[in-house]
Amino acid sequence: MKITVVGTGYVGLVTGTCFAETGNDVTCVDIDANKVEKLSSGQITIYEPGLEKLFERNLKEERLSFTTNLEEGIKDAEVIFLALPTPPGADGSADLSFVLNVAAHLGKIMTDYKVIVDKSTVPVGTAEKVTAAIAQNCKTPFDVVSNPEFLREGVAVDDFMKPDRVVIGTTSERARKVMGELYAPFVRQGNPILFMDEKSAELTKYAANSFLATKISFMNEIAVLCEKIGADVDMVRRGIGSDDRIGKRFLFPGIGYGGSCFPKDVQALVKSSEDAQYEFKILNAVMDVNEKQKLFLLPKIKAFFNNNLQGKHFALWGLSFKPNTDDIREAPALYIIEALLAEGATVTVFDPEAMNNVKQLLGDKVIYADHQYTCLEDADALIIATEWSVFRTPDFHKISAALKNQAIFDGRNLFEVSRMKELGYHYESVGRIP
Ligand code: UGA
Repeated sequence: MKITVVGTGYVGLVTGTCFAETGNDVTCVDIDANKVEKLSSGQITIYEPGLEKLFERNLKEERLSFTTNLEEGIKDAEVIFLALPTPPGADGSADLSFVLNVAAHLGKIMTDYKVIVDKSTVPVGTAEKVTAAIAQNCKTPFDVVSNPEFLREGVAVDDFMKPDRVVIGTTSERARKVMGELYAPFVRQGNPILFMDEKSAELTKYAANSFLATKISFMNEIAVLCEKIGADVDMVRRGIGSDDRIGKRFLFPGIGYGGSCFPKDVQALVKSSEDAQYEFKILNAVMDVNEKQKLFLLPKIKAFFNNNLQGKHFALWGLSFKPNTDDIREAPALYIIEALLAEGATVTVFDPEAMNNVKQLLGDKVIYADHQYTCLEDADALIIATEWSVFRTPDFHKISAALKNQAIFDGRNLFEVSRMKELGYHYESVGRIP
């Protein structure tokens, strides 16, 4: 099938590459000429494990191409995916201007039937708005479909190739047939394609992310309670997670959720609810808990240093909002760094992938180490903010030798409390008996 993907950000590039991998002819369109040039010459612009290999292969076999020209890009395409940014506006609702501008442009240049697919996370009612924007100037029949993506950064290729489900929101039989055909290779193992109306599909995306964020905030509150009453959150997590109705996944407490999705989507669903004259009470609490959780380690750190961090120096491991990505959007590490700096401390940071992004954001506010162990030099204590695998079994001799105080503040519960005690550390984590 001939497909166009408009927007070569994270979602667009994964979507385009994976559709090319299943034999489709994919053209990706982006207004950023610099990016298009890079991509056309084989330079991938995002870090996502496993994507580069597929990208290179499909580019070479000419199933994947890039252009800045929308008109040229949609020629002969049966399906056009819109994978454009929807940043939160000042009031917390998603800003649809990128999506609607492209939709209006498409209306002017389409010359035959096409299925236009909303792939970006967009509020309920967007399919209607996109339809209206296209229809203003359009002379051919078309359908607008809502097809939210459920990719996780770091495992996006796998999530795309083997989705738990594909949600397709359309009431048009014609569009349903096209989309069913396009996704058939991805659901051969029996996972469902769920056809529904546009609005239900749009809400499904927000409900899924908000529910997962709720699970995390719930566990983070259980962790706080564990510390207060002397229980162990790891035990409680296992105790409840083995009930199928609750499930084992997404119950890990920590220093809060970050990234480009959960914070934005929870906020947007609260806003949509307000617009519908409904107060979504649980989600307000989910956001509150998460804000507090990002600084969960700070009082522990301050208590250890007698409430005075002036002149103290910290090593911080892990900057991305989660492992296997260079994405630092809403990363808890950034909040910790700002708080430490505000207290008069200095910080040396290390991350396996996110250093460049942090350099761009923080400049010389922090010191950048080129290795996780050089990061520890002269540090008064180590703080861990992201659970990268390389941090899980570190060389404790090196850590002990470098740190001035044998103190580790772990926001992701990487180590066994008993082991850390044996090794002689002052070890603080989240929701476990020290
Ligand atoms: C999330 C969803 O998991 C995807 O299904 C969805 O497609 C995506 O948002 C999106 O809307 O585009 P992602 O933001 O890549 O994916 O990251 P997750 O793996 O879901 O992690 C989100 C945050 O939750 C991270 O900060 C992580 O550290 C935190 N988390 C996750 C916990 O604190 N505890 C857990 O048990 C799990």
